[in-house]
Amino acid sequence: MMSTLLYLLVFLILGTAVYGAISAAPWLPTKRKDVGRMVALAAIKPGERVYDLGCGDGRLVFEAANQGAEAIGIEIFVLPYFYAWIKSIFKKGAAILYGDLFNYDLSGADVVFVFLQDKSYKRLLAKFKKELKPGTRVVVGCWDMTDWKDHLVKEDKPTDKDLPMYLYQV
Ligand SMILES: C[S@@+](CC[C@H](N)C(=O)[O-])C[C@H]1O[C@@H](n2cnc3c(N)ncnc32)[C@H](O)[C@@H]1O
Repeated sequence: MMSTLLYLLVFLILGTAVYGAISAAPWLPTKRKDVGRMVALAAIKPGERVYDLGCGDGRLVFEAANQGAEAIGIEIFVLPYFYAWIKSIFKKGAAILYGDLFNYDLSGADVVFVFLQDKSYKRLLAKFKKELKPGTRVVVGCWDMTDWKDHLVKEDKPTDKDLPMYLYQV
């Protein structure tokens, strides 16, 4: 009985990690030093609704909540999800949802964070075009959305060594 439960647990952990890695990106958290930059680029106003698509341990979500946002993270990999969900219980303004980011409606978003591999951009852009309201800011870490360059507002890369970040607006 115990070994069956253990196998199920390992299957759940590995299965959700692999699903995330194939679907959009593996769990590779934004470096602590870059979290502030990413949130600053979004210029969040208190009360705005902010989503982090594939939120990992929730670090962007919690920082957005610190700025007064209603911050929501969506995560598929059970380990970081569970960690972030526990932390969210004690964090005002933060919520962590479980599931596939492509299945959540983003029409209420004011700001969306994306730190995913560019292989997911085609699907993401189709979703953004369908759901995001005019004015929504999208902050992207690492890979720019070349097919959305007419919506690019700002590129942020203070030095050659820094991770590039991009601000888009619908
Ligand atoms: C590169 S990490 C970024 C984590 C976090 N946003 C950060 O900046 O620290 C990408 C995250 O997206 C999650 N992910 C990948 N595909 C997903 C999907 N289809 N639905 C929900 N989460 C997904 C991964 O499990 C991983 O935690």
